Amino acid sequence: MEHEKRYTLQDLQTFAEFIRSKTDHKPTIGIICGTGLGGLADTVEDSVVIQYSSIPNFPVSTVKGHNSQFVIGKLRGKTVICMQGRFHLYEGYPAWKIVAPVRVMSLLGVETLFVTNAAGGINRSYNVGDVMIIKDHINFTGMAGHNPLTGPNMEEFGPRFPNMSDAYDVNLRKLAHEIAEELGFQTFIREGVYAMLCGPSFETPAELRFLQTGGADAVGMSTCVEVVGARHCGIKVIALSFISNMCILDSDAGEVLTTEEIMEVHSGIHSQSLQSLQNMVSTIIDRL
Ligand code: HPA
Repeated sequence: MEHEKRYTLQDLQTFAEFIRSKTDHKPTIGIICGTGLGGLADTVEDSVVIQYSSIPNFPVSTVKGHNSQFVIGKLRGKTVICMQGRFHLYEGYPAWKIVAPVRVMSLLGVETLFVTNAAGGINRSYNVGDVMIIKDHINFTGMAGHNPLTGPNMEEFGPRFPNMSDAYDVNLRKLAHEIAEELGFQTFIREGVYAMLCGPSFETPAELRFLQTGGADAVGMSTCVEVVGARHCGIKVIALSFISNMCILDSDAGEVLTTEEIMEVHSGIHSQSLQSLQNMVSTIIDRL
């Protein structure tokens, strides 16, 4: 899989050209809608929808409950491009493919990327329904060799060895805190470190304790790949995790984590918290 022919700059430019041919919108903000957060894309006005499957040679998301399309249009007066449905390592996609949409966004003129995801809470002070502003990440899959930037560097996007010390923009995080306060969300807003693992199996309690010791507050199976790609090409990033479940850290507790628990994100049980998150994202975009 890793040895498949990678997208060239020309391939990525062709994707961007295809999108440009479908709309006059010139997005400056990219949004990756995580599990349960696709509703945000539905609020985009004057929208043009482009199915991934309609773009020749473009990857297609295979996850149940995830749509597979770009939604381009206006959100709070700003021109945005949303990914409704993203690509995951656990689906079998190599990291270089997962990052392609972010590079296409960059070619389209995107300067700020908003990433959302659903994550398990490792930090014991967290609760289901909390929203964590990501302040830093532990890119386990990247550390294990699945970094999207391996292989020949695409100089057109960025340097061979890009900095990651400021991956999650400090000013955007400040803005997110201010807006959370204005909206009265202080009780469920957190800020913490997100660890990405490949999945699709959930973590064992021993793995989770390892992550906890290493400083992770939440864990999931997405985000870091796209963020590394975005930072490589100079896109500013803000990311929010919706805490969809608390992780089980005790091997003797006799508890299990079910997919249903996480899928409740889709079923509406979390709809009020998700609505708050959505509200927060649009307000941040309003102020960008
Ligand atoms: N682990 C990994 N990924 C997740 C979780 C989890 O507990 N919850 C949502 N995505």
